[in-house]
Amino acid sequence: MFVFKAAVVGAGTMGGEIAQVIAAASVPVVLKDVKQEFVDTGLAKAREVTEGKLNGLVAKEKLTQEQADEQLEGTLGLLTGTTEYEGFGDVDFVIEAVPERMEIKQAVFAELDDLTPGHAILASNTSALSISEIGSATSRPENVVGFHFFYPASVMRLVEVIDGDLTSEDAAQAAVNFVMQIRKNPIRCGEDPGFVVNRILNASVSEIWRHQDESGRSVEEIDKEITDAKAAPMGPFYLTDLLGLDTVLHVAQHLRDSYGDRFYVHPKMVELVEQGNLGQKSGQGYYTHGEGS
Ligand SMILES: NC(=O)c1ccc[n+]([C@@H]2O[C@H](COP(=O)([O-])OP(=O)(O)OC[C@H]3O[C@@H](n4cnc5c(N)ncnc54)[C@H](O)[C@@H]3O)[C@@H](O)[C@H]2O)c1
Repeated sequence: MFVFKAAVVGAGTMGGEIAQVIAAASVPVVLKDVKQEFVDTGLAKAREVTEGKLNGLVAKEKLTQEQADEQLEGTLGLLTGTTEYEGFGDVDFVIEAVPERMEIKQAVFAELDDLTPGHAILASNTSALSISEIGSATSRPENVVGFHFFYPASVMRLVEVIDGDLTSEDAAQAAVNFVMQIRKNPIRCGEDPGFVVNRILNASVSEIWRHQDESGRSVEEIDKEITDAKAAPMGPFYLTDLLGLDTVLHVAQHLRDSYGDRFYVHPKMVELVEQGNLGQKSGQGYYTHGEGS
Protein backbone atom coordinates (compact mmCIF):
# COMPACT_ATOMS: atom_id res chain seq x y z
CA MET A 1 0.00 0.00 0.00
CA PHE A 2 1.29 3.47 -0.89
CA VAL A 3 0.55 6.23 1.61
CA PHE A 4 -0.94 9.25 -0.17
CA LYS A 5 -2.01 11.02 3.02
CA ALA A 6 -1.13 10.55 6.68
CA ALA A 7 -2.13 11.89 10.09
CA VAL A 8 -0.47 12.27 13.47
CA VAL A 9 -2.43 12.40 16.73
CA GLY A 10 -0.68 14.26 19.57
CA ALA A 11 1.49 17.29 18.80
CA GLY A 12 3.84 17.09 21.80
CA THR A 13 7.52 16.19 22.14
CA MET A 14 7.27 13.59 19.36
CA GLY A 15 4.19 14.47 17.26
CA GLY A 16 5.33 17.79 15.73
CA GLU A 17 8.60 16.31 14.55
CA ILE A 18 6.95 13.14 13.24
CA ALA A 19 4.58 15.30 11.18
CA GLN A 20 7.60 17.26 9.90
CA VAL A 21 9.36 14.05 8.78
CA ILE A 22 6.26 12.95 6.87
CA ALA A 23 5.71 16.32 5.15
CA ALA A 24 9.41 16.56 4.27
CA ALA A 25 8.95 13.27 2.38
CA SER A 26 6.22 14.97 0.29
CA VAL A 27 3.28 13.23 1.98
CA PRO A 28 0.37 15.47 3.10
CA VAL A 29 -0.17 15.16 6.85
CA VAL A 30 -2.77 16.35 9.38
CA LEU A 31 -1.60 16.99 12.96
CA LYS A 32 -4.23 16.68 15.70
CA ASP A 33 -4.15 17.67 19.36
CA VAL A 34 -6.79 18.53 21.95
CA LYS A 35 -6.15 22.29 22.07
CA GLN A 36 -5.27 24.77 19.32
CA GLU A 37 -2.23 26.02 21.29
CA PHE A 38 -0.77 22.47 21.33
CA VAL A 39 -1.42 22.10 17.59
CA ASP A 40 0.29 25.46 17.00
CA THR A 41 3.31 24.43 19.09
CA GLY A 42 3.62 21.22 17.04
CA LEU A 43 3.34 23.10 13.74
CA ALA A 44 5.90 25.69 14.95
CA LYS A 45 8.28 22.85 15.83
CA ALA A 46 7.82 21.39 12.34
CA ARG A 47 8.60 24.79 10.79
CA GLU A 48 11.68 25.30 13.00
CA VAL A 49 13.08 21.85 12.12
CA THR A 50 12.43 22.32 8.39
CA GLU A 51 14.05 25.76 8.40
CA GLY A 52 17.05 24.45 10.34
CA LYS A 53 17.63 21.60 7.91
CA LEU A 54 17.24 23.80 4.81
CA ASN A 55 19.49 26.55 6.24
CA GLY A 56 22.13 23.87 6.83
CA LEU A 57 21.94 22.80 3.19
CA VAL A 58 22.22 26.42 2.02
CA ALA A 59 25.27 26.95 4.26
CA LYS A 60 26.89 23.86 2.71
CA GLU A 61 26.00 25.24 -0.77
CA LYS A 62 23.88 22.15 -1.55
CA LEU A 63 20.85 24.36 -2.15
CA THR A 64 20.43 27.99 -3.20
CA GLN A 65 18.42 30.24 -0.89
CA GLU A 66 15.72 30.34 -3.55
CA GLN A 67 15.48 26.53 -3.69
CA ALA A 68 15.39 26.38 0.13
CA ASP A 69 12.58 28.94 0.28
CA GLU A 70 10.62 26.94 -2.29
CA GLN A 71 11.14 23.67 -0.36
CA LEU A 72 10.14 25.32 2.93
CA GLU A 73 6.90 26.53 1.40
CA GLY A 74 6.30 23.09 -0.19
CA THR A 75 6.86 21.17 3.06
CA LEU A 76 4.84 23.52 5.27
CA GLY A 77 2.07 23.55 2.66
CA LEU A 78 1.59 19.82 3.23
CA LEU A 79 1.04 20.25 6.97
CA THR A 80 -2.33 21.10 8.45
CA GLY A 81 -3.51 21.21 12.05
CA THR A 82 -6.82 20.28 13.68
CA THR A 83 -8.39 19.84 17.10
CA GLU A 84 -11.39 17.95 15.68
CA TYR A 85 -10.11 15.13 13.41
CA GLU A 86 -10.81 17.31 10.38
CA GLY A 87 -9.18 15.73 7.32
CA PHE A 88 -8.97 12.19 8.78
CA GLY A 89 -11.65 10.85 6.39
CA ASP A 90 -9.22 10.04 3.56
CA VAL A 91 -5.96 9.14 5.33
CA ASP A 92 -4.06 5.92 4.63
CA PHE A 93 -1.83 5.87 7.71
CA VAL A 94 -2.20 7.38 11.20
CA ILE A 95 0.52 7.62 13.84
CA GLU A 96 -0.71 8.13 17.40
CA ALA A 97 1.70 10.01 19.71
CA VAL A 98 -0.46 10.82 22.77
CA PRO A 99 0.71 10.28 26.39
CA GLU A 100 1.86 6.82 27.40
CA ARG A 101 -1.36 5.74 29.14
CA MET A 102 -3.38 2.78 27.90
CA GLU A 103 -6.80 4.36 28.52
CA ILE A 104 -5.89 7.49 26.51
CA LYS A 105 -4.47 5.44 23.65
CA GLN A 106 -7.46 3.08 23.53
CA ALA A 107 -9.88 6.03 23.47
CA VAL A 108 -7.95 7.59 20.58
CA PHE A 109 -7.82 4.29 18.66
CA ALA A 110 -11.58 3.78 19.08
CA GLU A 111 -12.13 7.27 17.63
CA LEU A 112 -9.70 6.61 14.80
CA ASP A 113 -11.48 3.34 14.03
CA ASP A 114 -14.73 5.29 13.51
CA LEU A 115 -13.26 8.21 11.61
CA THR A 116 -10.69 6.79 9.19
CA PRO A 117 -11.23 4.66 6.06
CA GLY A 118 -11.36 0.90 6.66
CA HIS A 119 -8.08 0.28 4.85
CA ALA A 120 -6.14 2.82 6.95
CA ILE A 121 -3.35 1.51 9.12
CA LEU A 122 -3.47 2.74 12.71
CA ALA A 123 -0.01 2.91 14.24
CA SER A 124 1.15 3.74 17.76
CA ASN A 125 4.40 5.45 18.72
CA THR A 126 4.18 3.79 22.14
CA SER A 127 7.49 3.14 23.87
CA ALA A 128 6.28 0.24 25.97
CA LEU A 129 2.54 -0.46 25.87
CA SER A 130 1.03 -3.56 24.27
CA ILE A 131 0.07 -3.14 20.62
CA SER A 132 -2.40 -6.02 20.99
CA GLU A 133 -4.16 -4.25 23.87
CA ILE A 134 -4.25 -0.95 21.97
CA GLY A 135 -5.58 -2.77 18.87
CA SER A 136 -8.35 -4.42 20.91
CA ALA A 137 -10.06 -1.01 21.14
CA THR A 138 -10.68 -1.14 17.36
CA SER A 139 -12.65 -3.34 14.98
CA ARG A 140 -9.47 -3.80 12.90
CA PRO A 141 -6.67 -5.11 15.15
CA GLU A 142 -5.10 -6.64 12.03
CA ASN A 143 -4.40 -3.08 10.84
CA VAL A 144 -2.89 -1.90 14.13
CA VAL A 145 0.88 -1.83 14.45
CA GLY A 146 3.62 -0.26 16.57
CA PHE A 147 5.64 2.47 14.88
CA HIS A 148 8.27 3.62 17.34
CA PHE A 149 10.37 6.69 16.52
CA PHE A 150 13.29 7.94 18.62
CA TYR A 151 13.88 11.41 19.97
CA PRO A 152 14.42 13.71 18.12
CA ALA A 153 12.30 12.14 15.39
CA SER A 154 13.53 14.55 12.73
CA VAL A 155 17.11 13.36 13.25
CA MET A 156 17.06 9.74 14.42
CA ARG A 157 16.93 7.32 11.49
CA LEU A 158 15.55 4.20 13.12
CA VAL A 159 11.86 3.29 13.46
CA GLU A 160 10.85 0.05 15.19
CA VAL A 161 7.82 -1.63 13.58
CA ILE A 162 6.10 -3.80 16.18
CA ASP A 163 3.61 -6.57 15.45
CA GLY A 164 0.72 -7.11 17.85
CA ASP A 165 -0.78 -10.61 18.21
CA LEU A 166 -3.33 -9.90 15.48
CA THR A 167 -1.32 -7.57 13.21
CA SER A 168 -1.49 -8.89 9.65
CA GLU A 169 1.63 -9.44 7.60
CA ASP A 170 0.22 -6.99 5.00
CA ALA A 171 -0.15 -4.23 7.61
CA ALA A 172 3.31 -4.82 9.10
CA GLN A 173 4.84 -4.78 5.62
CA ALA A 174 2.93 -1.60 4.72
CA ALA A 175 4.32 -0.01 7.89
CA VAL A 176 7.86 -1.06 6.97
CA ASN A 177 7.35 0.43 3.50
CA PHE A 178 6.03 3.67 4.98
CA VAL A 179 9.13 3.94 7.20
CA MET A 180 11.22 3.83 4.02
CA GLN A 181 8.85 6.23 2.20
CA ILE A 182 9.61 8.82 4.90
CA ARG A 183 13.36 8.14 4.54
CA LYS A 184 13.93 6.24 7.76
CA ASN A 185 15.32 2.77 8.50
CA PRO A 186 12.83 0.15 9.72
CA ILE A 187 13.41 -2.83 11.99
CA ARG A 188 10.70 -5.38 12.78
CA CYS A 189 10.32 -6.35 16.44
CA GLY A 190 8.12 -8.57 18.53
CA GLU A 191 6.01 -7.19 21.32
CA ASP A 192 8.71 -7.78 23.97
CA PRO A 193 9.11 -5.20 26.75
CA GLY A 194 11.39 -2.38 25.59
CA PHE A 195 11.31 -3.76 22.03
CA VAL A 196 14.95 -3.62 20.88
CA VAL A 197 16.39 -0.16 21.48
CA ASN A 198 14.98 0.75 24.91
CA ARG A 199 15.87 -2.70 26.23
CA ILE A 200 19.52 -2.12 25.29
CA LEU A 201 19.61 1.59 26.21
CA ASN A 202 17.95 1.14 29.60
CA ALA A 203 20.27 -1.71 30.55
CA SER A 204 23.20 0.74 30.54
CA VAL A 205 21.33 3.84 31.72
CA SER A 206 19.98 1.81 34.65
CA GLU A 207 23.54 1.41 35.93
CA ILE A 208 24.14 5.17 35.73
CA TRP A 209 20.90 5.89 37.61
CA ARG A 210 21.86 3.26 40.21
CA HIS A 211 25.36 4.74 40.54
CA GLN A 212 23.97 8.26 41.09
CA ASP A 213 21.61 7.02 43.75
CA GLU A 214 24.19 4.92 45.59
CA SER A 215 27.02 7.47 45.39
CA GLY A 216 24.95 10.62 45.98
CA ARG A 217 27.00 12.42 43.32
CA SER A 218 25.20 15.25 41.53
CA VAL A 219 23.45 14.57 38.22
CA GLU A 220 25.27 17.56 36.70
CA GLU A 221 28.63 16.07 37.61
CA ILE A 222 27.77 12.68 36.12
CA ASP A 223 26.30 14.19 32.94
CA LYS A 224 29.42 16.36 32.51
CA GLU A 225 31.77 13.41 32.96
CA ILE A 226 29.92 11.50 30.25
CA THR A 227 29.93 14.37 27.74
CA ASP A 228 33.57 15.28 28.54
CA ALA A 229 34.51 11.68 27.77
CA LYS A 230 32.55 12.02 24.50
CA ALA A 231 30.72 8.81 25.39
CA ALA A 232 27.44 10.43 24.31
CA PRO A 233 26.36 13.84 22.98
CA MET A 234 24.58 14.57 26.29
CA GLY A 235 24.38 12.97 29.72
CA PRO A 236 21.49 10.62 30.60
CA PHE A 237 19.86 12.98 33.11
CA TYR A 238 19.74 15.88 30.66
CA LEU A 239 18.51 13.53 27.93
CA THR A 240 15.75 12.30 30.25
CA ASP A 241 14.63 15.92 30.71
CA LEU A 242 14.34 16.33 26.94
CA LEU A 243 12.48 13.04 26.44
CA GLY A 244 9.98 13.77 29.22
CA LEU A 245 10.33 12.22 32.70
CA ASP A 246 6.83 10.71 32.61
CA THR A 247 7.63 8.81 29.41
CA VAL A 248 11.06 7.64 30.59
CA LEU A 249 9.71 6.61 34.00
CA HIS A 250 6.97 4.55 32.42
CA VAL A 251 9.49 2.68 30.27
CA ALA A 252 11.87 2.18 33.23
CA GLN A 253 9.10 0.77 35.44
CA HIS A 254 7.83 -1.47 32.66
CA LEU A 255 11.32 -2.92 32.09
CA ARG A 256 11.91 -3.44 35.84
CA ASP A 257 8.50 -5.12 36.20
CA SER A 258 9.15 -7.32 33.16
CA TYR A 259 12.80 -8.32 33.65
CA GLY A 260 13.48 -7.72 37.35
CA ASP A 261 16.00 -5.68 39.29
CA ARG A 262 18.69 -5.60 36.63
CA PHE A 263 16.58 -2.68 35.36
CA TYR A 264 16.57 0.22 37.80
CA VAL A 265 14.00 2.90 38.49
CA HIS A 266 15.67 6.12 39.67
CA PRO A 267 13.85 7.21 42.89
CA LYS A 268 14.47 10.89 42.16
CA MET A 269 12.67 10.46 38.82
CA VAL A 270 9.62 9.05 40.61
CA GLU A 271 9.67 12.00 43.01
CA LEU A 272 9.97 14.56 40.19
CA VAL A 273 7.10 13.02 38.23
CA GLU A 274 4.89 12.95 41.34
CA GLN A 275 5.56 16.68 41.71
CA GLY A 276 4.58 17.29 38.05
CA ASN A 277 8.17 18.10 37.08
CA LEU A 278 8.37 16.35 33.71
CA GLY A 279 11.55 17.92 32.30
CA GLN A 280 11.82 20.44 29.49
CA LYS A 281 8.11 20.32 28.62
CA SER A 282 7.08 21.47 32.11
CA GLY A 283 10.11 23.74 32.68
CA GLN A 284 11.58 21.66 35.53
CA GLY A 285 13.06 18.18 35.74
CA TYR A 286 16.56 17.20 36.85
CA TYR A 287 17.44 20.66 35.45
CA THR A 288 15.58 23.97 35.24
CA HIS A 289 14.64 24.91 31.65
CA GLY A 290 13.51 28.08 29.94
CA GLU A 291 14.82 31.60 29.70
CA GLY A 292 17.72 32.46 31.98
CA SER A 293 18.39 28.86 33.02
N1 LIG B 1 9.42 11.60 24.38
C1 LIG B 1 10.14 10.67 23.78
O1 LIG B 1 11.35 10.74 23.73
C2 LIG B 1 9.48 9.51 23.09
C3 LIG B 1 10.24 8.71 22.23
C4 LIG B 1 9.62 7.65 21.55
C5 LIG B 1 8.29 7.40 21.77
N2 LIG B 1 7.57 8.19 22.63
C6 LIG B 1 6.16 7.88 22.81
O2 LIG B 1 5.41 8.81 22.06
C7 LIG B 1 4.15 9.06 22.71
C8 LIG B 1 4.01 10.56 22.95
O3 LIG B 1 5.07 10.97 23.78
P1 LIG B 1 5.49 12.51 23.87
O4 LIG B 1 6.79 12.52 24.60
O5 LIG B 1 5.37 13.19 22.54
O6 LIG B 1 4.32 13.04 24.84
P2 LIG B 1 3.93 14.56 25.18
O7 LIG B 1 3.35 14.52 26.53
O8 LIG B 1 5.07 15.47 24.92
O9 LIG B 1 2.80 14.89 24.08
C9 LIG B 1 1.58 14.21 24.03
C10 LIG B 1 0.57 15.12 23.31
O10 LIG B 1 -0.63 14.38 23.11
C11 LIG B 1 -1.71 15.29 23.30
N3 LIG B 1 -2.95 14.54 23.55
C12 LIG B 1 -3.41 14.00 24.70
N4 LIG B 1 -4.59 13.39 24.48
C13 LIG B 1 -4.89 13.57 23.16
C14 LIG B 1 -5.99 13.19 22.34
N5 LIG B 1 -7.01 12.51 22.82
N6 LIG B 1 -5.96 13.56 21.03
C15 LIG B 1 -4.91 14.25 20.54
N7 LIG B 1 -3.85 14.64 21.28
C16 LIG B 1 -3.84 14.30 22.58
C17 LIG B 1 -1.26 16.16 24.47
O11 LIG B 1 -2.00 17.36 24.53
C18 LIG B 1 0.22 16.37 24.11
O12 LIG B 1 0.39 17.53 23.30
C19 LIG B 1 4.17 8.21 24.00
O13 LIG B 1 3.53 7.00 23.74
C20 LIG B 1 5.65 7.98 24.24
O14 LIG B 1 5.92 6.80 24.95
C21 LIG B 1 8.13 9.24 23.27
